[in-house]
Amino acid sequence: MSDEFEKRLKVVYGAGGDRQRLDDAYSNWAGSYDVDLWASGNPHPAIVNGMVGRNVPDFNARILDAGCGTGLVGQILYQMGYRNLDGLDASDGMLDVARAKGCYQNLYRLLLGERIDLEPSSYDAVIASGVLTEGHAPPESLDGLLTLAKSGAPIIFSISRIAFEEGGFGEKMHALDAARAWDLVQQTEPFRTFPFSDEYADLRHWVCVYRKRG
Ligand SMILES: C[S@@+](CC[C@H](N)C(=O)[O-])C[C@H]1O[C@@H](n2cnc3c(N)ncnc32)[C@H](O)[C@@H]1O
Repeated sequence: MSDEFEKRLKVVYGAGGDRQRLDDAYSNWAGSYDVDLWASGNPHPAIVNGMVGRNVPDFNARILDAGCGTGLVGQILYQMGYRNLDGLDASDGMLDVARAKGCYQNLYRLLLGERIDLEPSSYDAVIASGVLTEGHAPPESLDGLLTLAKSGAPIIFSISRIAFEEGGFGEKMHALDAARAWDLVQQTEPFRTFPFSDEYADLRHWVCVYRKRG
């Protein structure tokens, strides 16, 4: 992993959840984010894309990519044949890069964890890749994703171990289980987020697939 990438990560995680600092950090990174992310060996985009392929058979399905960033995941979905993709993200700079790829029908500057002014129950699938992590989007983001999904729609997201264990996501996900708001379809084993990095050797993510209950 390059020194430059490690520096970018330090700025992102160093923002400590400060909204403006985080959005600025991503906007400043947007131009080189894809090169850095692919070179990092982070498996989450590949796994999320695989899970979409497995759980969303219709290429015309309306899919929301929440925290789409530069469209790194959406671009692959488009190349796979999915043609009805929307994205939302907090960072204008990341959205500009995503827009230039031409793979999304609509892109919105919106914040997970706040009220999202999009049509409820309007998406056939919702994905969130690399965004449910410390200092980014809060556990209440899951309520927003569920609201936007149609009944029976898959909700596919990566989650960081720290966000799950220390950031309230574990409690939130158990509460959604207890409320029978969704059903677990599949969960991967935890994997190393940055397999080539010594400094981030302990970071773990996993990918979950749930289905919204009707
Ligand atoms: C690590 S990047 C992941 C981008 C893309 N999904 C991917 O897999 O490459 C995290 C993205 O989440 C966005 N983000 C962070 N907090 C957010 C929030 N509360 N609501 C929406 N987007 C957010 C950032 O702007 C950034 O683009």
